[in-house]
Amino acid sequence: MNLKHKKALITGGSAGIGKALIKELIAHGVQDFAVIGRSQDKLNALKEEFKNINFILVAGDVSKLADINRLIDEVGSRWDCVDLLINNAGVVSADALQEMPDEDIINQININLTGLILLTKKTLPLLMKSEEAGLINISSGLGYIAKPFYSVYAATKAGVRHFSEAMRRELIFKNIHVMTVYPTATDTGMMTTAKVDKMDSPELVAKKSVDGLLNKEINVILGGDQRLKDIDTNFNHPLQIDKSVKENYDAYKERTEKHRAM
Ligand SMILES: NC(=O)c1ccc[n+]([C@@H]2O[C@H](COP(=O)([O-])OP(=O)(O)OC[C@H]3O[C@@H](n4cnc5c(N)ncnc54)[C@H](OP(=O)(O)O)[C@@H]3O)[C@@H](O)[C@H]2O)c1
Repeated sequence: MNLKHKKALITGGSAGIGKALIKELIAHGVQDFAVIGRSQDKLNALKEEFKNINFILVAGDVSKLADINRLIDEVGSRWDCVDLLINNAGVVSADALQEMPDEDIINQININLTGLILLTKKTLPLLMKSEEAGLINISSGLGYIAKPFYSVYAATKAGVRHFSEAMRRELIFKNIHVMTVYPTATDTGMMTTAKVDKMDSPELVAKKSVDGLLNKEINVILGGDQRLKDIDTNFNHPLQIDKSVKENYDAYKERTEKHRAM
């Protein structure tokens, strides 16, 4: 895929992996971005950081239908098409299910999954006007292998995985390449309350994602060969993963106890 002069709509482009994706796409010739995020200040900072780039900045929440409609109206009135839709915005709240606040359950599902699906639906007419479009959904390693205390987050990310797969097949006769990205622990604001020894940089995730897009890959899985082996084990021998969880249960609980970025 040739990225030069493409118009990219990205959710959550004001921080973390989303912002790193903007930087990487700029390096490949993208100059027009539409970005939605809840904090206006963080959006405004993009203009300071990336001078000479054209931004449509919409302060809004992807889980709110009115905000999605406002975003699409704004983008549709300024651009003739959308070439890349990058569904990146996401939140996390880890806990034992019975301890998790109801709002965190509802909001993780609404932001990570329902909002992503609704925005995709409403962007499709603009994507179909592109000569060569990309639909990129950011899932998570937990979308492949669910771990304890991430039941709701993992459910949303597995939902993103299957939504992507269905859309890839539904759009098989269209000029829209569908790609899913599965980051493992990445050093962003989302992880400040998690206890993790080793993390990828958001720049690495962005580079692998953009490389994947250039090569029209369908899945970009971070975490190296070990991750691929684990996915295989989880599919073919799930009780092996259960055994390891059982042996390390207290450590899992301790590491995730305070992990919340909503
Ligand atoms: N970091 C990791 O370890 C990791 C691992 C696997 C997958 N991921 C996934 O990667 C994606 C990006 O994560 P990140 O680590 O870059 O997170 P981050 O640093 O917390 O950034 C999240 C971005 O999304 C925006 N956002 C959050 N909720 C939103 C909402 N309701 N509506 C609109 N924008 C919203 C945030 O801006 P505002 O707060 O201003 O809204 C921010 O720009 C997420 O989907 C996440 O699940 C991350």
